[in-house]
Amino acid sequence: MSTKIAISVKVNGLVYDWEVEPRLLLSDFLRHDLGLTGTHVGCEHGVCGACTILFDDEPARSCLMFAVMAHGHEIITVEGLGTIDHMHPLQQAFQEAHGLQCGFCTPGFLTTLVAFLKENPNPTEEDIREAVSGNLCRCTGYQNIIEAVKLAAGKMQS
Ligand code: FES
Ligand code: FES
Repeated sequence: MSTKIAISVKVNGLVYDWEVEPRLLLSDFLRHDLGLTGTHVGCEHGVCGACTILFDDEPARSCLMFAVMAHGHEIITVEGLGTIDHMHPLQQAFQEAHGLQCGFCTPGFLTTLVAFLKENPNPTEEDIREAVSGNLCRCTGYQNIIEAVKLAAGKMQS
């Protein structure tokens, strides 16, 4: 029998007071307990970036963290970036520049790049390539993702 631990965590602006097993991964907590399946799980060992979330505004691999580590912290998942009616400018740019195909990697790219553009609102192409170097995409060949980030940077400055 395992003992559950009480945690309180803010996710996309809502506070969740929850009880979790100590071994529960943060990615599984978000997906299975909270139903936020926009956070995807690919490699489950920190390589692909599909599970990236914003943890206190910093990109983090949720497959490498336990849910208990989120106690007292704030998380934003892809669901918290925008809605279909009110997309984040980066989401709009991904749509307009065809920065996704199957979409499996997209939540991880978006969360990574939202933080990146906040820190570097006027990036060079080299900066963007560096920023996405930790996220794997099997479909796009990356070029349209780069174009989407350039487009988003322009949108966010205007
Ligand atoms: S699922 Fe977390 S980095 Fe791949
Ligand atoms: S769009 Fe399919 S993995 Fe990136």
